[in-house]
Amino acid sequence: MNLTTRYMGLTLKNPLVASASPLSQKLETIRQLEDCGAAAVVMFSLFEEQIRHDASALDYFMSVGTDSFGEALSYFPVVEGCEVGPTQYLELIRRASKAVDIPIIASLNGTTDRGWIDFATLMQDAGASAIELNIYYIPTAMHRTGAQIEEQYLDVVARVKSAVSIPVAVKVGPYFSSFAHMAGRLDRAGADALVLFNRFYQPDFDIETRTVVPSLTLSTPEEIRVPLLWIALLYGHVSCSLAATTGVHSAVEVIKYLMAGANAVMSTSALLRHGPSWLTGVITDLGDWMERKGYQSVDQLRGSMSHKALPESMAFVRGNYIRILESYKPTA
Ligand SMILES: Cc1cc2nc3c(=O)[nH]c(=O)nc-3n(C[C@H](O)[C@H](O)[C@H](O)COP(=O)(O)O)c2cc1C
Repeated sequence: MNLTTRYMGLTLKNPLVASASPLSQKLETIRQLEDCGAAAVVMFSLFEEQIRHDASALDYFMSVGTDSFGEALSYFPVVEGCEVGPTQYLELIRRASKAVDIPIIASLNGTTDRGWIDFATLMQDAGASAIELNIYYIPTAMHRTGAQIEEQYLDVVARVKSAVSIPVAVKVGPYFSSFAHMAGRLDRAGADALVLFNRFYQPDFDIETRTVVPSLTLSTPEEIRVPLLWIALLYGHVSCSLAATTGVHSAVEVIKYLMAGANAVMSTSALLRHGPSWLTGVITDLGDWMERKGYQSVDQLRGSMSHKALPESMAFVRGNYIRILESYKPTA
């Protein structure tokens, strides 16, 4: 059984990747993730705000010309318990990339042109195998058009790509008027992978204390639907790799994402809930299912249920919607 997969130019021993989370804050846990079968680890994101707070890096990063994502500053989540500054972050990349054989993918969440570029370069120099750009941007300014915001995304990708030689993945949210068009533009701007989708921080209200409650709830398997749809629609239409992140809680979701067309399938919530050993069972279940269904490789499986592969391509768009509505028609 060949579980290997190619993800943005990297050969992974299987499609399962530990996505960005506090699990990667400790070298010991990164080692455990590798031992339990993770094919790569995406580090938790380094937020540029943290760089700004780190005295040693402050001078370096504060002389910024353009503050392209300036208005977003107040919307970045405070990552609780994530006290790692840039110096420690780079040191962790350095140590982790020496300690394990799997790729270590650094994750960067910048706010300024210089923050994105300079830190991406430092991450590369520290030994990261690739960089994931966690573009977390909530466009609240009413005067800014969708087109302007899209240009900002593309600009970040193009700038980082021209600054580093390692692969660059772009983790985005689904909230674009024309996601297919945007995906195509990110692909052409040089993204080596699209990571679908970012899980935006959605604050809640406590009606007793009447305060805003920061919340980042863990996902459920039902949440795979939006990324599953988009991976199935994009497969074969972009030249970059596709990674799925959201809702992977068992081999079932892994298989679905691979059939849609994912090169890599990522998990955070299940790993936080069950610990790294959860991966071992999922990889075994994936292999068992493939054997039962007669697949010899992940490559053979990939995209087999994509929009491109299915003769009944309306299954992904309006056709089924109408069928579902009809099934709900009252009979009386
Ligand atoms: C506690 C927690 C911390 C996270 N931290 C990051 C982060 O630093 N950078 C990032 O890009 N995504 C982060 N994420 C998002 C995950 O990487 C992942 O994309 C998301 O949780 C969806 O996957 P899941 O359904 O497997 O949890 C975090 C998620 C959780 C739950």
